[in-house]
Amino acid sequence: MAKLILIIAFQILLLAAVVSAGNSEDFARTIDRKRLGLRKEKLTYFRVYWHDILSGSDPSAVMLLPPPSNSSFFGAVTMMDNRLTTEVSVNSTLVGQAQGMYAGTGQHEASALMVMIFAFKTGRYNGSTISILGRNAVLTKVREMPVIGGSGLFRFARGYVEARTMWFDRKSGDATVEYSCYVLHY
Ligand SMILES: *[C@@H]1O[C@H](CO)[C@@H](O)[C@H](O)[C@H]1NC(C)=O
Ligand SMILES: *[C@@H]1O[C@H](CO)[C@@H](O)[C@H](O)[C@H]1NC(C)=O
Ligand SMILES: *[C@@H]1O[C@H](CO)[C@@H](O)[C@H](O)[C@H]1NC(C)=O
Repeated sequence: MAKLILIIAFQILLLAAVVSAGNSEDFARTIDRKRLGLRKEKLTYFRVYWHDILSGSDPSAVMLLPPPSNSSFFGAVTMMDNRLTTEVSVNSTLVGQAQGMYAGTGQHEASALMVMIFAFKTGRYNGSTISILGRNAVLTKVREMPVIGGSGLFRFARGYVEARTMWFDRKSGDATVEYSCYVLHY
């Protein structure tokens, strides 16, 4: 018994020595999530329309790098600051901007890497964002892409979006896409 206590006491001492020597780990600690007001996770749904305008004198999307080959969009990089509205019409109520870029990643298929932030500009969501990163097989009817994070009201966000093309002009490349968004956040 005495031996056991001695062993335990020794181990505690050893642990204390390791902890005090491990100052390099002092920068991180566990805190109570309630301190950040994180109580119950919510699921929020919203539907917005994304307007990719490449044509005209005031485009919202600009191709920075053209594709190296004419046979696909592989390698093309486009930067966007697209309107997000409540209805299909580009002139319907603005809720925010989709800011980011998309790049052609399919050599033998129409698929793109989407990297974008939905930056909301209205009501209680003003200033909040969600981050979307995913593969967009643009000719598929419904494309699912992950929501990988968020800020403001969408802190700790995760979820997914479903993109459906409402309208596409083959000549100019202009498009309106419906985004149905399912976001878990606190
Ligand atoms: C792409 O097509 C254009 C016009 O059709 C042509 O001038 C150009 O040389 C082509 N580029 C390549 C890389 O094939
Ligand atoms: C949207 O508004 C602009 C500017 O008022 C106008 O030129 C354009 O035709 C409108 N577009 C649609 C689809 O209503
Ligand atoms: C959104 O927030 C910005 C910055 O705080 C403010 O300038 C703007 O008026 C707000 N917009 C709306 C529609 O509330």
